[in-house]
Amino acid sequence: MAEAVPVILDVDTGVDDALAIALAVSSPRVDLVAVTTLAGNVDVDRTTANTLAVLDWLGADSVPVHRGASRPLARPHVDAAFVHGTDGLGNAGLPPSPRGVGADRGPAAIIRLASARPGQLTLVCVGPLTNLAIALNVEPTLPSLLAGVVVMGGAYRVPGNVTPRAEFNIYCDPEAAAQVLATPFPRLTLIGLDVTEQVVLSRAAWTAAADGNGPVAGLVDRIGRRAFVERGLAGTALHDPLALAAAVEPSLVAGESAGVTVGTEGEARGETRLDGAGSAVVASTVDPGAALRFLSRELGLPSLI
Ligand code: RIB
Ligand code: CA
Repeated sequence: MAEAVPVILDVDTGVDDALAIALAVSSPRVDLVAVTTLAGNVDVDRTTANTLAVLDWLGADSVPVHRGASRPLARPHVDAAFVHGTDGLGNAGLPPSPRGVGADRGPAAIIRLASARPGQLTLVCVGPLTNLAIALNVEPTLPSLLAGVVVMGGAYRVPGNVTPRAEFNIYCDPEAAAQVLATPFPRLTLIGLDVTEQVVLSRAAWTAAADGNGPVAGLVDRIGRRAFVERGLAGTALHDPLALAAAVEPSLVAGESAGVTVGTEGEARGETRLDGAGSAVVASTVDPGAALRFLSRELGLPSLI
């Protein structure tokens, strides 16, 4: 068995963020050191409350949560409540957590934890990049303190999901994304819609998973109702779980090194452009079956295929 990867998970919990948290808590491949939150799918109060509620639901109430950015660096917050429901968790109705957040805010916690364990922690960002941009601003040596960074974000050779050119996490805070993607990290992996939209939880798989026993099955049941019942979707992409899965099982995706520039103005807002040579690895292919098998195994769910 491969060793567990120590991870800081940066989230805007959200339905698929909740599944990434479930993967982090369930899988022996992940050592969830801390979770940092920020405004994204919904406001930071809700993403933080959702994160605490999901961790407690899963019995992981010892995992520290650090509240982060309340808005993008340079523009008003635009949410994705139409996708994730007004509560941001698919109106799952989980019991609220009685516990509070950690003393330091998200960016400070990222700096503190990385400094305490230099070169050991992998930061997995599955929301806008505001926390990471702030942390880089305050601690410019942060790239050397992290083992690696994996970002769920961008649309490199496929259309966006907010505009034809932009994926939500980048669109929500393009200035933060531009700062992060202009930073030379020893290991930066970009998991964009190019691969995440190929890894889909189907209605049939959701139904089968929801019929299972245990807290993960119960979570999947509750948070999936908005997509499959309220919205009547046939499937929903597992964006954030795939990003975390790729962080601990890199063989699930393949990609090429490239430079990436981010659009910030007008119709180019949030656009992620491949721009010559660069140190980021941009995922371009995934084996959806292998990814779904990995996720079902590590989540302890029946087959998701
Ligand atoms: O575009 C998909 C991303 O935007 C996911 O992280 C989802 O949670 C939303 O934040
Ligand atoms: Ca997210």
